[in-house]
Amino acid sequence: MLSGEAPPDSQFARDLMAALGSRPHTISPKYFYDAEGSRLFDRICELPEYYPTRTELAILQRNVGEMAALAGRGAEIVEFGAGSLRKVRLLLQAFEAPARYVPIDISGEHLRDCAAMLRSEFQGLDVQPLVADYTQAVDLPARGSKGRRIGFFPGSTLGNFTPEEALGFLRRAAGVLRGGALLIGADLVKDPAVLHAAYNDAQGVTAAFNLNLLVRANRELGTNFVPSQFAHYAYYNVPQQRIEMHLVSRTDQTITLGGERFAMPDGESLHTENSCKFTVAGLRGLATFAGFRPGPVWTDPERLFSVHWLHAP
Ligand code: AVJ
Repeated sequence: MLSGEAPPDSQFARDLMAALGSRPHTISPKYFYDAEGSRLFDRICELPEYYPTRTELAILQRNVGEMAALAGRGAEIVEFGAGSLRKVRLLLQAFEAPARYVPIDISGEHLRDCAAMLRSEFQGLDVQPLVADYTQAVDLPARGSKGRRIGFFPGSTLGNFTPEEALGFLRRAAGVLRGGALLIGADLVKDPAVLHAAYNDAQGVTAAFNLNLLVRANRELGTNFVPSQFAHYAYYNVPQQRIEMHLVSRTDQTITLGGERFAMPDGESLHTENSCKFTVAGLRGLATFAGFRPGPVWTDPERLFSVHWLHAP
C-alpha cells in the first residue's frame, strides 16, 4: 500500500496520471487484468450473454481439421497473449506433430503456469514462453524446425486496439510470420441489442470487471477512488462499430494520485475500453493492407463471430 505522497513509478501510474490529467479521460484496457480482473474475465467468458468465447471455441472445434491441413506438419504456433489454454489446446491436439509453442505475454507468472501445463500434456513439444509486450516489436527465438510458423490471436483482442494500433500489430505479425500464417478471431458486427447485452450482463460481472480497475489503482497506486461513486456504462457506438466501456463519476469528486489532485466532476467519464467489431470483408481488407493474403474464413451459423486464416507471404 502506497502513501500517495511519492509519485508511484510504474507504467500504470504514468498512464493513469495522463488519463486523469487530460480530457476525455482514457486509459488502456490492458490494466483490467490483475489477478482479480483475470478471474472476473474468466467469469465473463461463461456468462449466457457473452457469446464470443463459446462461439469461437465452437468454430475452432468444428474446423480445426482444415486448419491443421493448412498449417502442415511440424508447425510452430506463436500465440499473442496467453489467456486460457482451451483454444490453443485444440490446435495442438489436431495439428500434425506441432514442433514448438511460443506464447507471448506480459505476465511472466501466468506464462510459466501455462508452459508447465502444456509441457506435461504434450510430450515432445518444445514450449518456449516469451515475456514481452506483443503490442510492441518482439524478437522471436530462431526457428527450430522446417515447419510453418503460425500466429494465433484469438478472442477478438484485436478489437481493443485503435485502427492504427491494429494495423501496426498486423504489419509486425506479417513480418515475423513470413512464410506462414496468422489464425485470428474477430467478433462481428451484429444486432446492437445482442452486443449491448454481452457487455451489460444481468449478474453484473462485466460491471465488476470494469470497476475493478479502480480497486486495483487504489491498491497498487494508493489512489482514493470510491468504486460505489462510479457507474459502469457500456454501449455500442454504431458509427464507430465498437463497444465503449466507461466508468462514469456519479458525484463531484477529487482523485489523488502521487501527491497530485485531479477533479472528477459529476457525470465525467473515465473511458476504459473500446471493443471494435468487424465485418468479414473489413477484417480481410485490413489484413491485406497490412501485408497478408486472406485465406479461408470460418463463422458460426448465426454469424456472431469469425475466425480467419491469413497467409503471410
Ligand atoms: C478480451 C478484449 C476480447 O472486448 O469482449 C469483455 C474484453 N470487456 N467484456 C471484449 C471484455 C468486457 C474482451 N476482449
